[in-house]
Amino acid sequence: MKRPSTKMFLDSGDPGETRAVLQTLGFLDGQTTNPTLIAKSPEAAARKERRQPFTNEELWEFYKRVVQEISGLVPQGSISIETYADLTTTAQKMLKQAREFNSWIPNAHIKFPTTAEGLKAAGQALAEGIRVNMTLVFSQSQAAAVYSATTGASRGDVFLSPFIGRLDDIGQQGLDLIKNIQQMYQKGGGHVMVLAASVRSVAHLQSLLNLQADIITAPAKVLLAWTKGEEISTLPQPPLQSIPYEELNLNADWQSFDLHHELTDKGITKFSEDWNSLLQAAVK
Ligand code: G3P
Repeated sequence: MKRPSTKMFLDSGDPGETRAVLQTLGFLDGQTTNPTLIAKSPEAAARKERRQPFTNEELWEFYKRVVQEISGLVPQGSISIETYADLTTTAQKMLKQAREFNSWIPNAHIKFPTTAEGLKAAGQALAEGIRVNMTLVFSQSQAAAVYSATTGASRGDVFLSPFIGRLDDIGQQGLDLIKNIQQMYQKGGGHVMVLAASVRSVAHLQSLLNLQADIITAPAKVLLAWTKGEEISTLPQPPLQSIPYEELNLNADWQSFDLHHELTDKGITKFSEDWNSLLQAAVK
């Protein structure tokens, strides 16, 4: 398979999938994880099934072991590790986790939710030399805020993760958000790399390659089907509504942009629930 100019990441919390994709694809530029993906990884899922929950400490140790294994398999790539956050988690709490996670492996990007607290934490993390991945992005104004809040960072130190499949889920054309952000970022200095996430099909992946997205992260089943020239089975979708481009000033103060999106809040809630479902309190 010819290596595209777009960087290809695996979206998974399972090192077994990293091995399988490396074997079939022959390369990987990185891997993204999140609390839901960690909860789905075979060892965590088996413990949940056996009703054998983790203590908080054990769960961090488990995440660390998984991430270190993946980092060893993709040593030249970037591995995203996500901070635990619910809707009340402060920037300070996220930052504390970021410092710890960044010490686990040499090639980490630390994921923060694209909220005011997440951006405060990310700004400080960057100042401390920690690379960041702003996640759960669903709007162009969130992307503008990330750009503005991280101005001065080097290209490669800031990833922005718009979730296209989840916009499709609510009837909006997720790919339009990528196009709009690319168009807006053309006016800037290029320090933020767009990492297209929530990729559900080979058609998504192919469209993102055509758009020359900086980075694509996709589940193993999508990457494997793509290498075989196949499509995964996808449900028929109703027509999607296009997302209009907005004129936004990238030099405006990041706090002036509207950071709220219902899917960001929903995503944070689901990530924290999936994480908490692995802990002892969940089976009491
Ligand atoms: O990288 C983000 C991704 O894991 C979310 O995907 O399919 O849950 O929307 P999905």
